[in-house]
Parts: sequence; C-alpha cells; structure tokens
Amino acid sequence: MHTGYEVDPATQAVTPPIFRATTYHQGDPWDPPAYDYARSGNPTRHTFEAAMAALEQGVRGLAFASGMAALTAAFMLCSQGDHLIVTRDCQGGTQRVLRGVFSRFGIQASYIDTDDMQAVSDARTSDTRAILIENFSNPFLHVTDISHVTQWAHEFGLLVMVDNTFITPYLQNPLSLGADLVIHSATKMIGGHSDITAGVCVTKDEELARQLYFIQNACGAILSPDDAYMSLRGLHTLPVRMDRAQQTAMELAVALSNHPRIQSVYYPGLTSHPGHETAVRTMRGFGQMLTIRLKDPTWVPGFTRHLRLARVGAGFGGTETIVSLPELHCHAALTPQERQERHISSDVVRISVGLESSADLIHDITQALTLTG
Ligand SMILES: Cc1ncc(COP(=O)(O)O)c(C=O)c1O
Repeated sequence: MHTGYEVDPATQAVTPPIFRATTYHQGDPWDPPAYDYARSGNPTRHTFEAAMAALEQGVRGLAFASGMAALTAAFMLCSQGDHLIVTRDCQGGTQRVLRGVFSRFGIQASYIDTDDMQAVSDARTSDTRAILIENFSNPFLHVTDISHVTQWAHEFGLLVMVDNTFITPYLQNPLSLGADLVIHSATKMIGGHSDITAGVCVTKDEELARQLYFIQNACGAILSPDDAYMSLRGLHTLPVRMDRAQQTAMELAVALSNHPRIQSVYYPGLTSHPGHETAVRTMRGFGQMLTIRLKDPTWVPGFTRHLRLARVGAGFGGTETIVSLPELHCHAALTPQERQERHISSDVVRISVGLESSADLIHDITQALTLTG
C-alpha cells in the first residue's frame, strides 16, 4: 500500500501526481535538476520503480513499456556469442524474441526444464552467460527452486534472471533467494485489471542496475507516466486480489480434478502436482493460474462457446477469469514442432482465475464442460 510513496510533498495528495512533462526547465544548466528529459527520468515512473524495487527487495527498479520490453532489456545485458539457458515451457514471446531477434546478433538459447537440475547442468556450455527461469512455467506451472539453481549458477559466474510474472512479489522474492534480476510483465497481476501494458526489471546489484538503466535510456522503451500510475495503483490491491483469486483457483482445481471430461489438472496447490513440495517450501501461495487438459481435444471449442462468465482470449492476471488456449494464444509464436516438444496440444486450456464468486465460476466452468461434446 504505502511502499514507494508517502504523500505528495507539494500538495499532500494521497495518490501520486501524473507528470506528463517531457522537458524540465534548467535555471542553471551547469547544475541541472534531478529530471531533465522524460525518457531519462520521470517522477511518476520513478515512484512505481521505487515501489517495485522495495517489494522485490532490490536496489533499483526500471519500468518498461511492456513485459517484452523488460525481457528485451535483460537480454541486452548479453553480448554476441553468449548462450542462455531458458525455462522450456516459458511464454511464447520470450522464445519469439530470442529466436527472431537475438539469434541474429549471435545470442543462442537452450530450452530446458529448470526444475530438473541435471538437465540444467548438462545444458551449460563454456559460452553460457545467464539462465532465465520462468516461475511458474507457462502453461504447465513447473516450479523451480530458485535457491538451488542460483547456488549452481553462481559457481559458474552465470547471471540468474527470474520472470516472476505468475508469482508476483507477494508470493515470492527471487532476489532474496539469490537471483540477480527479476522481470515482470506488469500487464498481468500487477496492473491487475487488463487495462495497461507494462514491464519491470528489478535488481539488487548496483552495477547491473547501472547497465540496465543505460539500456533503458539508450533504447527508450520506457513506461508512460499514465501507465506507471496505473501500475502503482494495481500494486495497492495486489495482495487482496491474489488472496481471493488463489483461494478460488484451489477450489476450482479440486472441483476439476474429479470432472469426467478432464484428463489432468496442473495446479501447484494440488499435492499431485510435481512441483507442490517445492512451492510449499519456497513460496507463500500457489497463485491464480491453472491449466487443464481435456480428455478429447474436439470438446475444446464447445467448452469455450458455453462459458458464460469466463472470458476467452490472450492475457491473464485481470479481475475477470480468462480462459486461454495456449496453442492459439500464449504459445502461438512457437512452431508446431516446438509446441509438440512441450506437450502443448489443442486439448490444453489455461485458466487465469479472477475475482468472481468461486461458486459462480466453478458452476460456469463445469457447466461448459458438461454441455460440450
Ligand atoms: C510470463 C510472461 N512474461 C512476459 C510476458 C510479456 O509481457 P507483455 O505482454 O507485457 O509484453 C508475458 C506475456 O504474456 C508473460 O506471460
């Protein structure tokens, strides 16, 4: 609630002003004020960046125009010839930018289940510079033990980056578990209302912060003042939203586990989930995302058509429940073969649980499953 902002010193306003100015008057250009030009610094953006740095237990936050812009800035810490290890079922955009952009600059990536330490260790080459862990992974919600991977990675001088979008700082702080850099798509749970596009990097290392700020200012994919304000506003209700949504997610996961049309439910809160023990040990909750696999892929179109409350489409982390089809939405950027290797087929459905009453939502989803086919 109060992290990063007390009251506006000029007016005592309890919410921060939105500064849209691009240029700041320099009465004495040889002793310039704190802000001079909006790409280089903006007070509203700084308020959000400071809040994120504090919540993620880092020294500095840097806010970007989207989660992809934040990930791109993180990848720009690498140089030609570097190799990255990346969580295998990470979101499609991460793979798209690595394959379609960074590979052209000689940066290569291997996609590995980062919850399998042997596979991670086997993937390291003499060129490996960093590991990017997406926690939970998308769409199967693998849980990676950040401390475990970090201990190994630091032995070899690797940078540990964690995409913490699914978990948020409310449920886990990767920097306190040893990671060097945390990345968020604030478009999701942090914004929380499906109405902004934003991204953030937070680091606990001053030198890394300096390099990331250089990239932010040099490349210019900054967060707008209005969206910085909205991101900050989202933070105020993050714990309340997350508590409510994850409680419903747990109830929905249990209800769907016994549904005759469902093959599998992937939710780290279920004791049957392979990452359950790691989640209990390393996180403060199980989050609001769950994935299901229907017994018959031909039932999926009928299922989505019969939904009355849940919305269907890309995106997650909003107040409304959003049902996504990874093949068409979050993993559309992968080739058919890449999707096959990751077991992402047309029977897979991802659900971002929102703030509807759990009884209404469970009824909506189960009736749509029953009516389909
Ligand atoms: C885990 C994760 N990280 C990053 C991104 C990219 O974020 P944005 O859509 O804000 O660019 C996404 C998008 O869905 C995501 O799911």
